[in-house]
Amino acid sequence: MSSHEQQPSTEVARSGTDGRLPERFENPGLAPHRHRLADSDPKVSKRSERQVVVIFLISVLASIAGVVGYFVIPLDEPSILDVRLSTLVIGAGLGLGMLGIGVAAVQWARALMDDAEKVEDRHPMSAGPSVQQQAFEMLRDGGSEANIARRPVLKGAVGGALALAPLAFLVPLIGNLGADWDISKFARTAWRPVRGGDPERYYQGQYRYLAVDPQDRRIKASEITNNNIVHVIPHGLPEEEHYLEEKAKAVVLLVRVDPGLLKESAERADWSYEGIVAYSKICTHVGCPVALYEQQTHHLLCPCHQSTFDITDAAKVVFGPAKRALPQLPIAVDEEGYLYAKADFDEPVGPSYWQRER
Ligand code: FES
Repeated sequence: MSSHEQQPSTEVARSGTDGRLPERFENPGLAPHRHRLADSDPKVSKRSERQVVVIFLISVLASIAGVVGYFVIPLDEPSILDVRLSTLVIGAGLGLGMLGIGVAAVQWARALMDDAEKVEDRHPMSAGPSVQQQAFEMLRDGGSEANIARRPVLKGAVGGALALAPLAFLVPLIGNLGADWDISKFARTAWRPVRGGDPERYYQGQYRYLAVDPQDRRIKASEITNNNIVHVIPHGLPEEEHYLEEKAKAVVLLVRVDPGLLKESAERADWSYEGIVAYSKICTHVGCPVALYEQQTHHLLCPCHQSTFDITDAAKVVFGPAKRALPQLPIAVDEEGYLYAKADFDEPVGPSYWQRER
């Protein structure tokens, strides 16, 4: 490799595409190299080094904050705020830790590394011993050009940042490996019948009514018109500690189609009411809300990765990455025509996970 400035001398030919004579022009070469202030002024060089060190230190602190956040924010009985805060702190720690390393490396290269312009003549590629020797020499030269040997503080900062950044990712990962996962929370929803429930909220003190979200108003079967889609939740969900999680798990889409179109197994023959069917709104792929309904095909579509479910055929998957049908909620009406859930979903809602069979 040689280090020199390219001279503007060579004439370069360019062929015209329309059959005319080739054009000729002068190779302008590279503009004269302008040295950076940091190359000639030790004070500026020192200031640049301090900048790089500070950015690496920010990376170190962010990584530590991510790890500390993982241990400090309690997730044994977490509220939704705890979960969000934990995700924010770990994510921000991991992100800032990695970003700091990237920004510091760029600033280091811009301000401190050797910036001489170099031209390397092309040569045949070979993996022979001489090439390998060259590669080792280039790596060694690169190391000395990075000027790290004579900058011990910078050396410590980059070492610390590189060593700590992976921790913000690894510690939560390793910490959760032995965690006691309570999967029962996924297996049941607020639709499950209770004993001795409040008659205002439960049909016969046992079965949850379906209610329009967010008004929490009970809904009658007569309000669901053909090909109309309605998003419903369990009526009278108490706004207690896990209200948002319970609501999110239980959200349901109600659709009415011509009853003659429904292909219902003998087991599910009485799970619908006059063509009204109720399916979990949580996609069985990775849990996005299934939100689009095609009236002509009677398909429900998930906007995230286009999984498509046929509601006339037990919400089976007809397209996309989801592997399971949407769980169905068995429904019926009371004496006044209000819809209620006769039982919980027939299987856990949402994406697949281990031990999901009941
Ligand atoms: S989450 Fe629905 S298709 Fe991926």
